[in-house]
Amino acid sequence: MSRMNELYKKMIAFDKGDAKRIQHFTKVHNFARLIGQEEHLDEKTQYILEAAALVHDIGIRPAMEKYGNCNGKLQEQEGPAYAEEMLKGLGFAPDVIERVAYLVGHHHTYTDIDGLDYQILVEADFLVNYFEDGLDEESIKASVKKIFRTETGKTIARDMFYPEEFQMSETWAQDGLQDLEDWIEEQGIYIRQ
Ligand SMILES: [Fe+2]
Repeated sequence: MSRMNELYKKMIAFDKGDAKRIQHFTKVHNFARLIGQEEHLDEKTQYILEAAALVHDIGIRPAMEKYGNCNGKLQEQEGPAYAEEMLKGLGFAPDVIERVAYLVGHHHTYTDIDGLDYQILVEADFLVNYFEDGLDEESIKASVKKIFRTETGKTIARDMFYPEEFQMSETWAQDGLQDLEDWIEEQGIYIRQ
């Protein structure tokens, strides 16, 4: 059993009884894995990204228990210690633990994104949250424009939420040629005048 799968199972147990939260991090992890691989992250950064995606929302439950509230700030405040403890218990390397804890403590902060692991974690979380929160198309577009940096993340957002804008018509090549011919004709008419 890989260490990553052990972490996955530990997170399922941590959120036991809460299928929605388990399915949330499962989706975020999967998008993060795909985007990371497609963006050619080095092995270590990919590893950190995947571990962080699994535990990114670990602060929700303790924030709820402590404060009866789980806003982004409280999640960021409560999450890192729990992430550290879980990863330590599974024997993750100290530098991996440190970066994952940092990402857990910052994943609701969108200024000063200081690495592709951070950027992709945020994009994957947004891709899932747009859907889970039922955000409208215009708000999604504006958010993607503001936050997303990777081509893979942008393409997934487009294909999932507003594909019509980018679909080529079946006759796009002919249409293009026709436009070109029209344009040449217009120029010709203009020149003759
Ligand atoms: Fe999340």
